[in-house]
Amino acid sequence: MGRLSIHILSIFPGIFEDLLNYGIVRRAVEKKLLDVSIVNIRDSAPDKHKTVDDVPYGGGAGMIMKPDILAASLESTVPFREHRRPEVVFLTPQGKRFDQSHANKMSMLDEFILICGRYRAVDERFREICVTDEISIGDYVLSGGEPAAMVFIDAVARLIPGVLNDFESGIEDSFQNALLDCPWYTRPEVFEGRKVPDVLLSGNHAEIKKWRYEQSLKRTRQRRPDLLDNSEC
Ligand code: 6GU
Repeated sequence: MGRLSIHILSIFPGIFEDLLNYGIVRRAVEKKLLDVSIVNIRDSAPDKHKTVDDVPYGGGAGMIMKPDILAASLESTVPFREHRRPEVVFLTPQGKRFDQSHANKMSMLDEFILICGRYRAVDERFREICVTDEISIGDYVLSGGEPAAMVFIDAVARLIPGVLNDFESGIEDSFQNALLDCPWYTRPEVFEGRKVPDVLLSGNHAEIKKWRYEQSLKRTRQRRPDLLDNSEC
């Protein structure tokens, strides 16, 4: 078992097939700092059609995910021991907006469960009884929680202590300051008539550091002034 175990409950487990095979998430798994288990909710449906949804009481378009099947899937994944269960995060556009500070908190846990909803909704009683946290990744509607779960896992995996190397952690620190990144350049020195800013060729590291900070601040002011509102910058 990794330092952090994440269980994903979904009716489309195949979507996650490649999630662990690339980049930093892969490294986290290889270093045994992360493991992810993917559970097919349908496996917990007892009938021969493997039904996971039903029509809404009171009528209306769309289908609702059945609370009994979801609860059974959860129980098969992490049995409810001594009235304690790891955090159960339901991914929904109705949830609290996911951000870096929440990613940080989740990276400190040793186990949690992500529930991916599909169809029109999940039965309210499952939400009330089993879900401990509801998270949205932004103000737009996805067809299901799966893409949001991938975003969530990527953001959390990179924050598990030991996953990033020192250099990458430095980058992370600068975002934890809640400033946008500065512009970056590589060769060639002139591209389509545009030259790399002189300061970056000066070799003056103090000046370069100052320039980068100023660029970050300027960019944040222009594009995301809301990020500056609750920081000391
Ligand atoms: Cl977490 N789920 C869905 N279905 N849509 C979303 C979302 C989640 N976050 C933003 N839009």
